[in-house]
Amino acid sequence: MYRLVFMQVLRRFDAEAVHHLTVRALALLSALPLVKRLLHRSLAPHDPALRVSAFGVHFPGPLGLAAGFDKDAACAEGVAALGFGHVEVGTITAHAQPGNPRPRLFRLVGRRAVINRMGFNNAGAAAAARRLRRTRGVPVVVGVNIGKTKVVPEQEAVADYVAAAKELAPLADYLVVNVSSPNTPGLRDLQAVSKLRPLLAAVKDVADGTPRRTPLLVKIAPDLADEDVDAVADLALELGLDGIIATNTTIRHEGETGGLSGRPLKGRSLEVLRRLRARVGDRLTLVSVGGVEDVDDVWERLLAGATLVQGYTGWVYGGPLWASRIHRQLSRRVRRHGFASIIEVIGRTAPDSRHAR
Ligand SMILES: Cc1cc2nc3c(=O)[nH]c(=O)nc-3n(C[C@H](O)[C@H](O)[C@H](O)COP(=O)(O)O)c2cc1C
Repeated sequence: MYRLVFMQVLRRFDAEAVHHLTVRALALLSALPLVKRLLHRSLAPHDPALRVSAFGVHFPGPLGLAAGFDKDAACAEGVAALGFGHVEVGTITAHAQPGNPRPRLFRLVGRRAVINRMGFNNAGAAAAARRLRRTRGVPVVVGVNIGKTKVVPEQEAVADYVAAAKELAPLADYLVVNVSSPNTPGLRDLQAVSKLRPLLAAVKDVADGTPRRTPLLVKIAPDLADEDVDAVADLALELGLDGIIATNTTIRHEGETGGLSGRPLKGRSLEVLRRLRARVGDRLTLVSVGGVEDVDDVWERLLAGATLVQGYTGWVYGGPLWASRIHRQLSRRVRRHGFASIIEVIGRTAPDSRHAR
C-alpha cells in the first residue's frame, strides 16, 4: 500500500517538501496525547525479549531513527509512537543556521538511496533545548547529535561544540559528536585523531558534568580508511567514550554533490561495523547505521556486534510502519532461534577480538 502511494503520489513531490510535511504531521501527533498513546500502544516495541541496555540507558527495541530526520527535536514522540526504539535528533549546532541552498535532497528511487547536502539546517541549540525540556507523554529515548556551526572557523570548533553540548547534554539520553557529515566544509577533517582528541575530551568534560553523566558517542564516516577507523576506535577507548556510531553518508558516488545513503551504503557500513567490533570487542557500544532496509539487515548488524541499529533511508522507502514491522519480525525471529532475548544475538558471529575482555 505504502509502495503504491509512494510511487504514484509522494515521489512526484519535491523530496524536502514531503520531508517537512512529514515532520509537521509527526509534530502534531506528538502534541495529541490520546492518539499518540494509542499508536504507541499498538506500534511501539513492547516485547521484553527485544529490550536492550547500553551505557546505562534502556531501549525498548534495538532499531532507532538515525540523525537528520528530526533536526530540531520537533517530533521525537511521534516517531517513537510509530515504533522506533529511540530517536536521534539533530544534527543541532550551537547557532541557528539555514543550511545549503535548495534543492538539497534527492531521491534515487531505483537504487533505494538518497543524496542530501542539507548542511545542518537547524534552529540552534537553545531552540532545541526548549523543545527537549517539554515533558513527554510517551516514553522515548532521545539521543542528541551535535555538529559545528558552519560560520565558525575550524580553530574555534571545540568551543562551538562545547557550547552546543552545554545546552543539550543535560537533556539528552545520550550525546553524539558528529564529525562525519560531508556537507559542512572541513567537518570531516576533525576525524583526524590529532584534532579529534581535544574535541572529544572537551565535550566529554561537559557530558561527564551533567547530573546523570550523559553517555557520549562519536559518529564516523564510511569513507575513512580502515586504519583511521582503527585510530578513532582506539581514541574512543582511550578517552572512555561510550560508543561509536557507524556510519554517516558516503561521498563516494556519482551525480549530485552530497552524501549518499540507503542501499548502496550497506556493504561499507557493515564492513566498518565488523572492523570496529574486531578492534574494540564489547568494550564500546557499537551503533550500526547505513543501508539498513529490513529485518535481515538488522539481524546481520546485531550478529556482527551492534547493540543498536539505526535507519533513515530504509524508512523513506519502507513506509511509516517500517520500524514497527521490523521489531515485530525480530520478536518472532528471536523465538524461532530459541533465544530468550535479543541480547543473546549481539556479536554472535563476531570473531573474538584480541582486545575484547
Ligand atoms: C536527508 C538526510 C539528512 C541527514 N542529516 C544528518 C545529520 O544532520 N546528522 C547526521 O549525523 N547524520 C545525518 N544523516 C545521515 C544518517 O543519520 C545516516 O547516518 C545515513 O543516512 C545512513 O543511514 P541510512 O542508509 O539508513 O539512511 C542524514 C541522512 C539523510 C538521508
